[in-house]
Amino acid sequence: MSEILIVYSTVDGHTRDICERIRSQLASRGHDVAMTELTPEASIDLRDCGAILIGASIRYGKHRPEVGTFINQNVGTLRSKPSAFFSVNAVARKPEKRAADTNPYVKKFLASISWQPPIVGIFGGKIDYPKYGTFDRTMIRFIMWMTGGPTDPTGTFEFTDWEQVDAFAADVAATL
Ligand SMILES: Cc1cc2nc3c(=O)[nH]c(=O)nc-3n(C[C@H](O)[C@H](O)[C@H](O)COP(=O)(O)O)c2cc1C
Repeated sequence: MSEILIVYSTVDGHTRDICERIRSQLASRGHDVAMTELTPEASIDLRDCGAILIGASIRYGKHRPEVGTFINQNVGTLRSKPSAFFSVNAVARKPEKRAADTNPYVKKFLASISWQPPIVGIFGGKIDYPKYGTFDRTMIRFIMWMTGGPTDPTGTFEFTDWEQVDAFAADVAATL
């Protein structure tokens, strides 16, 4: 069976944890899965893999710029193979914000790139206040306060619905 490549963009590692979960779900179905991190310096060759998943988290309203750049540079390959995209953000802690047309970041992002991924996943992320510096902690607490989320600066809050992640992996497996 040809290899599935998971390309991910993360800052604090939660997107990588989600990728690990997807990898184990796909591996349990007999698929050969590799993971690679997308950084501004990364050189990632998609030609030899059989399918591609791209996952990225949101920070201050956006995925990292290299995510859109990478997609636009590889759009021909992405269109020619089974592919999927997922985004990780705190807004998606609300189930009604987990669709491509209701999650503001994903809606805007998909409109800005020339690839329309056949499968889109939007997962709640993780807020780990003790891990952040003062500026980020203050900003995230403010955003959470504005949107009715948790603000305890000593708390760690994981919003990911792992069953939703497993269902996404099952959807991906069904296209292979
Ligand atoms: C500095 C900072 C800014 C963030 N900005 C947003 C945001 O604008 N909207 C949102 O929904 N989530 C936001 N988040 C939440 C992240 O998307 C969430 O923590 C995610 O799990 C991060 O994934 P990563 O660890 O793979 O980078 C932010 C988190 C941090 C730490």
